[in-house]
Formats: sequence, structure tokens, C-alpha cells
Amino acid sequence: MPLVTTRQLLDEAAKGGYGVGAFNVNDMEQIQAIMEAAKETNSPVIIQASRGARKFAQDNYLYHLMLAAAELYPEIPLAMHLDHGNSFETCESAIKLGFTSVMMDGSLKPDGKTPATFEENVEITKKVVDYAHERGISVEGEIGVLGGIEDGHGAGGSGLDHVTDPDQAVEFAERTGVDSLAIAIGTSHGAYKFTKKPDGSVLKMDLLIAIHKRLPNTHLVMHGSSSVPKDLQDIINQYGGKLKETWGVPVEEIQIGIKNGVRKINVDTDNRLAITGAIRKVFAETPEKFDPRDYLTPARAAMQKVVAQRMTQFGQAGHAGDYKAISIADMAKGYASGSLVTKPLVTAK
Ligand code: 13P
Repeated sequence: MPLVTTRQLLDEAAKGGYGVGAFNVNDMEQIQAIMEAAKETNSPVIIQASRGARKFAQDNYLYHLMLAAAELYPEIPLAMHLDHGNSFETCESAIKLGFTSVMMDGSLKPDGKTPATFEENVEITKKVVDYAHERGISVEGEIGVLGGIEDGHGAGGSGLDHVTDPDQAVEFAERTGVDSLAIAIGTSHGAYKFTKKPDGSVLKMDLLIAIHKRLPNTHLVMHGSSSVPKDLQDIINQYGGKLKETWGVPVEEIQIGIKNGVRKINVDTDNRLAITGAIRKVFAETPEKFDPRDYLTPARAAMQKVVAQRMTQFGQAGHAGDYKAISIADMAKGYASGSLVTKPLVTAK
């Protein structure tokens, strides 16, 4: 299957009542791990690259690795998504390269650190939506600000500092016409999200449900959704790592989200933990080894295991064969003719 848009993947997920994991990548082994997990579980999938990943890998390497993935796994619907675009130019360059979906994170100013005003967010996001939709490409916006910092992007601080206001979410979706909407409900990027198992005082699932009630047809996105499992932390620490005790977003909470409009779930940290644990184990147990394949092979397998597990837990497993790709050109026609609705359905408070 050629690369498809996240809009198509998320529309299908909404029809089927499931969520789609969006997994971050920086290199070939991570892409291979995700594609093998997708094959193993027969799942559609979103692979995403941040600005940091594009810098690390270089655009052309990343793009051609993604094309190779689409070529090698023709049965898997696969979207290539820009995670946390910080400006119109970043989104434009991703679209020119061949990304089928971009996130314009206008919740922060272009420095990727300072919270932007609501009007600034609407203005820049709408500009990206107009440019992207004309070319058939999907756009994710963000309203409210996530906690933490990932790849140098983020306001830092707690996930509770700038949670999403439901009225603003409605106005933002109406004025920008985004295909999906990331909301801030107390989560943060990275491993250190919560100091104990989160309850409703720090992980605001009630807020997510309130937003979904107002915007019942808008695809919601949960960022910072790694579960940071204890067994992955333990492997790292057992083999010389020094992670402090921490909690992520329990999978059961994500599943509640999926029942309430969440269609895209961003996961990066869990895979980083799995890779690092596997590599540390090889280094600790067989220090005489020096062929990178000796540690990259188990690292890739460890990531595949986590991704396959999430695909099953999010419900996307088994759905790869449900539909055929809609071409990017046809997506553009759909936006132009109005058959791809971008005006959200809004219900009363
Ligand atoms: P985690 O750090 O929880 O994996 O979140 C990743 C993310 O939201 C990428 O945008």
C-alpha cells in the first residue's frame, strides 16, 4: 500500500471504535520493529518523526526508509506523520518531502518552549491546514500544553499547568478545521510523568470525556501516552541504569480514552526504555561483544514486543485489511469538494 494519510486511518478507527498507536522513530531498526509488529498483529499504523528525529536521521534517509517500509509491507496501511511541527516552514518542508500528515503544534511559540496565545495558535494552525488540505495532507493541532520536554520540544513543568479548556477546544476545532486534535489532560512527554499511579487528580480523564461530549466527531489525540512499565524500568536498572521510580499512563486509562473519542495515541518513551534495557543487558552479560548486530537485534525485538502489545491493547490489531488506500490526490479533491468534512460537529454543554 502506498503511504496513506492519518485522516483516513483515524476515520477508519472511528468507524471500528479503536485507537491507532503513533510510534516515534529515529532510525531503521525502530521502523523495522514497528512494521514487524504491524505485520504480526495485522495492524494499520502511524510512524512519526519529530524535528529532533529529522535532524538526527536527515530527511532523505527517513523518507526513503518509510518508502521501503511501505514497499515491503504492502498489506499494512501506513501513515508518515510529523510530530510537533513548530512552524509553518517545518510543516511545509515535511509535506514537500512526502510526509502524509503533519502536526502543527501552535500551542507553543516557534521556539518550541514558550506557550503561545490562543489567537496565535489558531492563526498558525489554520495557515498549515489551508496549505496541507490543498495537497491532501492531514493536520493535527494541539490545544492546551503538554508537560515535560521531548527532543528539546516542550514547555517543561507539570502536565497540569495548561490543561485544555473544552470551550477553547470547540472554538479551535471550528476555526482551524484540523483533522485531529491533541489535548492536554495532565500527561507529559518522557519517563517522568507521575510520582505514583495516577488518579483523576493528575490524569484528567473527566476532562477528556467532557471535550469528547462537545466534539463527538473530532478525532482526539493523546500525547505523552507511554505507560512506562515497571518491568522495562527494572531491566534498565538491573543492568546498571539509574532510572528513578516513576509512573506512566496506565493502559486501562488509554482504553477509557479510546471509548471516548481518542483515535491516535503517541508512544515513544516505552520503546526507548525497551531498546535501552535490551542493549544494557547484552553489554552487561557479554562485555566481550562488539558487533552492533549483537545488541541491535535484541533491541529491535524488544521494541517490536512493546509495539505489538500496544497495537493489541489499542484495538488496531486485525484491522489492516479493512480498507484500501485513498490516494493523496483524492484526499485533496475530498477537501476541495467538502466531501471530507472539516467543520466539527459541536454539541451543547
Ligand atoms: P511518551 O514520552 O509518553 O512516549 O510520549 C510521546 C509523545 O507524545 C510524542 O509526541
